[in-house]
Amino acid sequence: MPFSDELKNATFPEGFAWGAATAAYQVEGGWNVDGKGPSIWDTFTHQKGKIFQDQTGDRACNSYELWEEDLKCIKQLGLSHYRLSFSWSRLLPEGTACNINKKGVAYYDRIINDLLTNKVTPMVTLNHFDLPQALEDKGGWKNEQIVDIFDEYAKFCFQTFGDRVKLWLTLNEPHVSANLGYEEGIFPPGLKEPGMSVYQVGHNMIKSHAKAWHSYNTIFRQEQKGLVSLALNSDWAEPFDPSSQDDINATDRYMAFMLGWFANPIFVDGDYPAIMKSQIKARSEKQGFVSSRLPEFTKEEQNMIKGSADFFALNYYTSRKVKYSKSPLKMQSFKTDKEAEGIIDPSWPVPGVAWLAVVPWGLRKLLEYIKKTCNDPKIYITENGFSLMGPASLEDNQRCQFYRETLQEILIAIHQDGVDVRGYFAWSLLDNFEWACGYSVRFGLFQVDFENPEFPRTMYKSGKEYATIISCNGFVN
Ligand code: NOJ
Repeated sequence: MPFSDELKNATFPEGFAWGAATAAYQVEGGWNVDGKGPSIWDTFTHQKGKIFQDQTGDRACNSYELWEEDLKCIKQLGLSHYRLSFSWSRLLPEGTACNINKKGVAYYDRIINDLLTNKVTPMVTLNHFDLPQALEDKGGWKNEQIVDIFDEYAKFCFQTFGDRVKLWLTLNEPHVSANLGYEEGIFPPGLKEPGMSVYQVGHNMIKSHAKAWHSYNTIFRQEQKGLVSLALNSDWAEPFDPSSQDDINATDRYMAFMLGWFANPIFVDGDYPAIMKSQIKARSEKQGFVSSRLPEFTKEEQNMIKGSADFFALNYYTSRKVKYSKSPLKMQSFKTDKEAEGIIDPSWPVPGVAWLAVVPWGLRKLLEYIKKTCNDPKIYITENGFSLMGPASLEDNQRCQFYRETLQEILIAIHQDGVDVRGYFAWSLLDNFEWACGYSVRFGLFQVDFENPEFPRTMYKSGKEYATIISCNGFVN
């Protein structure tokens, strides 16, 4: 949407967080050095046939050795914030605090201290997909014991780094790790247990997050004065045929199964969205299950979960038009449970990875939806980005336009719709290991030359564009 006259000179609110994000496995490399234990991503990528051209994150961008280069990039962009994740198994090689890896602690100490010295605020994700393999061997996210184990890890991090880190995210995109790891099998642990584990894993993730939030709240908050949340991903969805009640209902289910699954318990009432519960219950009963395949929270758990976040952290990438899709009753799966199919409108550009249709206006609508449905929270956009197939040209004009349009939509959301957006983190600082797609897909503001053993970083044109917007705290007209 073009700027209206009244917004021509609008800027972002004072103190707006200007960031970029990365995740440990996608950039660090150093997968087995200095005492780091393996994570599920190390195990998975070392198996043949799992990842594009059998690529791995063994070296990734080599940020384990090249942190200073990353810091230069951060400074060149003029970022006020940097979102990184800790590799759990670099800190605790077996996943539990019985063995603490001092070199891992030193690595993150250095990053945090360097950021602060350069007046950049760190935002840290405790677990961005890379669960320690030692914990996976004990059942991983499917085993309820993970709730206490995650809490121990979180407390260790708050205790060790919380004097300096004030913005925490417990988990990244639980929707994605549960769905791709346990339903589709394209992320580790690579299971295909449709319609069952996915919900159990989501359940344990919600409880893990909430327990860690409470630990922060009761033990650390008073002294450390930080904020804790978790990063939730969501598409924006609209009915394929706005005059069809079936499509309208399917769209509601699409949003409930994607965002509401996690947002409703944490930001609304301690429980799953009513439409998700009734849908899965009805289908489960007809399939002969004695109870719903979606687990239930006890009253006590609901009370613990409700309100367990200090802000809303949103990862937004794309939008969908949603059609009702009748699924055969005998099919139990996350996909068929929702009886809704998300379609990419042919007019939306898809410049890189196939799922990412570029729809900047969808973000404005999604922000308004979150304001309305989640009690008007403070929102940080913790990821948003534009992919190109690699290697990509430094003259990434389309991506420049994407950042301009997206940030204009956010300005409108703030000034016109009254959404309380506190910050924006571009995904990503660097081209990096894009999970199942390996290095074929590039999201960076800096290009990384993976063929060169020194992994040189070079700013894309979009990096310059972003830096200009940051320096003006908006747009110069
Ligand atoms: C969200 C994930 O958090 C991040 O790790 C990933 O690279 C981006 N989406 C792009 O797919």
